[in-house]
Amino acid sequence: MHIEFAKKQDALYISEMSRDLIEAGLGWRWHRGRVMRAIQDPDTVVIKATITSRLAGFAIMRFGREEAHLDLIAVKPPYRRLGVGLALLSWLEESALTAGISIVRLEIRETNQNALKFYEQRGYRQIRRIKGYYCGQETAIAMARDLWCGVSINTIRND
Ligand SMILES: CC(C)(COP(=O)(O)OP(=O)(O)OC[C@H]1O[C@@H](n2cnc3c(N)ncnc32)[C@H](O)[C@@H]1OP(=O)(O)O)[C@@H](O)C(=O)NCCC(=O)NCCS
Repeated sequence: MHIEFAKKQDALYISEMSRDLIEAGLGWRWHRGRVMRAIQDPDTVVIKATITSRLAGFAIMRFGREEAHLDLIAVKPPYRRLGVGLALLSWLEESALTAGISIVRLEIRETNQNALKFYEQRGYRQIRRIKGYYCGQETAIAMARDLWCGVSINTIRND
């Protein structure tokens, strides 16, 4: 497996993976133009994982002054449970630490139990439920991890 920065020519493929593997049933917000802007944004990191030169997965993280936000991560079904997701997430977490950032936040669909397990095994904790977060239709679970010392808030709240 090889992890590297995504290039402009990866934008369409990444956006299609987001549409099919993450945003299914919600409408397509991470279209090619948005992924392209993320690739070009100096405060956003878009990485891809390839296996024998084939795109296996990608992840997008925005870096703020004190916190980072994981916008998207996906691995194509044939490559799942091989450690690709973990490798992508670890890569971004290392980058956050290098930038002096310890808090990583993200939101996932409440129905996405596989991703919930993926994040929880990595030390992310459920912070709160956000009703209607996705197009007014679906509840999100907000999660966070403190890369230095573990999260301080781990109770779930309803908004
Ligand atoms: C979530 C996702 C990125 C995980 O990628 P992956 O490459 O399969 O994950 P890994 O192989 O690195 O898994 C690491 C660990 O996470 C946990 N895990 C991952 N997928 C899991 C699942 N479906 N069920 C239970 N635990 C899971 C396991 O503990 C796993 O370790 P193990 O395989 O040794 O048991 C992948 O399932 C995916 O692309 N899902 C669709 C998109 C998505 O939901 N993205 C998240 C919201 S943006």
